[in-house]
Amino acid sequence: MELNLDLNRDIPVLDWTPHLAPRTEGMKSSAIRELLKLTQQPDIISFAGGLPAPEFFPLREVEEACRYIIRKDGAKALQYSATEGYGPLKEYLATTMHKYGVPAVPDNVLLTNGSQQALDLIGKLFIDSGDYVLTGRPTYLGAIQAWNAYGARYHTVNLDDDGMVVDEMEHAYEKVLADSGKPPKFIYVLPNFHTPAGTTMPLERREQLAEIATKLNLPVVEDDPYGQLRYEGEDIPPICTFIPERTIYLGTFSKIMAPGLRLGWIVCPEVLMKRFVQAKQGCDLHTGTFVQYIANDICQRGLIKPHVRRLRQVYKERRDTMLDALAEFWPEGCSWTHPQGGLFLWARVPEPVDTTEFLKIALAEKVAYVPGVNFYPNQDGGYNAMRLNFSYSPPDIIVEGIRRLGIALKKALGY
Ligand SMILES: Cc1ncc(COP(=O)(O)O)c(C=O)c1O
Repeated sequence: MELNLDLNRDIPVLDWTPHLAPRTEGMKSSAIRELLKLTQQPDIISFAGGLPAPEFFPLREVEEACRYIIRKDGAKALQYSATEGYGPLKEYLATTMHKYGVPAVPDNVLLTNGSQQALDLIGKLFIDSGDYVLTGRPTYLGAIQAWNAYGARYHTVNLDDDGMVVDEMEHAYEKVLADSGKPPKFIYVLPNFHTPAGTTMPLERREQLAEIATKLNLPVVEDDPYGQLRYEGEDIPPICTFIPERTIYLGTFSKIMAPGLRLGWIVCPEVLMKRFVQAKQGCDLHTGTFVQYIANDICQRGLIKPHVRRLRQVYKERRDTMLDALAEFWPEGCSWTHPQGGLFLWARVPEPVDTTEFLKIALAEKVAYVPGVNFYPNQDGGYNAMRLNFSYSPPDIIVEGIRRLGIALKKALGY
């Protein structure tokens, strides 16, 4: 039978708003993802995204892994697989985490589509509309975005040079209790090379946070995408080391292998794992089997460690280049963090310069960054701050971008 359909007709526009769940009102596009669209223009120097250096992606290793997997295990690698993740990779991660100080066995590990999915699953499992999350100001924008969709509210404590000010936590807890009649659902913390602030929590503060979380009977979400990218100083045990029974630890291959793989992992107590598995089944059944095989092959062949060593060298050089360029080109009154690792530093500019407004000038100069206010869940700070990424651009481009920003800042300050 031939259908006489006019597919080129004008299709009316439906107002979808009344059909959407009211909780979606809190959902916003990430400022960073919007900015990233802009920064794809080839002439923009982007300090905006958290992009790893593409010229150091392990292309050869991934290519070899693909060939090997297809030849040896192609049918399995292209089949549906367990929600929990690919067994050998779970084993590898459990062993690696154990060495790092996280008491994990394979049954504690769940593979996810990047840490971002882990954040979303946490929202799905823990947050009802109006629930509070206790975190720092600033905090990771992607977490705010994930949890806004579930109607989260945020109570924040300040950050100092050592990360979240744990001394403020009990007071924050009491405030949340008074406000909502319920305790916060969990503490969200980024102990290593905080994004955006670039801070690292020393050992004592991690122990103190573990003690307070225990005293207040709060779970802890420990987000650690950059832990292996340390450029100076000694590794510090994760918070999960001290309170594994109440910590959900998040790791990812995004910054140490490639973010396009979309591969991360959760380590959590076994009693919670069933819930995560149920939540994930409703989302996507399981993380891509093939990418898990690829990551597993690269890790099992011992290629990831030298790769991370190389990344540390490259990123350390880029961090130092950015620090030197800031000192050379930026006007008096500006300040910035000296991160021990990770991909970002956090810069402050003098009061009259609002970094959201200044971004227009910066973009006209073909330089992008993320204005600080985006990292404040209650938009109550960061107006004079910006997050600068140093991993993506090669050193000469970093110098040029910082120089252009310096000139524009001087102009804005009336130099
Ligand atoms: C603190 C933090 N958590 C989570 C993520 C998400 O990472 P993934 O690429 O693993 O989804 C990022 C990405 O930049 C991040 O900085």
